Amino acid sequence: MHQIIYISTARPGITQADVDAVLTSSRANNARDGITGLLISDGTRFLQALEGQRKLVETAYDRIRRDARHRAAVILSSKDISDRQFGSWDMAFGGFGKIRDGGALRDVVDRLVAEVRDPNTRALFSGFTRIARKTAA
Ligand SMILES: Cc1cc2nc3c(=O)[nH]c(=O)nc-3n(C[C@H](O)[C@H](O)[C@H](O)COP(=O)(O)O)c2cc1C
Repeated sequence: MHQIIYISTARPGITQADVDAVLTSSRANNARDGITGLLISDGTRFLQALEGQRKLVETAYDRIRRDARHRAAVILSSKDISDRQFGSWDMAFGGFGKIRDGGALRDVVDRLVAEVRDPNTRALFSGFTRIARKTAA
């Protein structure tokens, strides 16, 4: 079992409809490929975890990083894991758009990562929402 976590910058002008389209194809493809994960966005950046069989996760990432709806994808972590951290969904999504008070995105993501066992992974996703709050202000 392999897990990749990356961060990227959303294309300027990206809309909720663009994100909805990403989620529709992600959920279908990831269910087919046995990939689970979490995608969050503050409207400026994306942070995503992908996990599953190594070859399938790498193939998915390779497709995703070339997607024109974002750019400058950087892998934060790529590692073998003993079992899934984000096992209960194909692709959960937390937040989109400029969150001025920060509270909404933070609460959604905190709920979504509550069952992630690895504290570093949990902290990475929760921490993203705290940075998002500062830069969106
Ligand atoms: C931020 C972001 C995250 C994405 N995450 C996934 C994903 O988890 N799985 C996936 O198959 N495609 C994902 N995509 C979409 C892919 O880049 C690509 O458009 C899609 O896989 C094409 O599949 P389709 O031809 O079946 O629609 C993502 C795109 C973006 C911009």
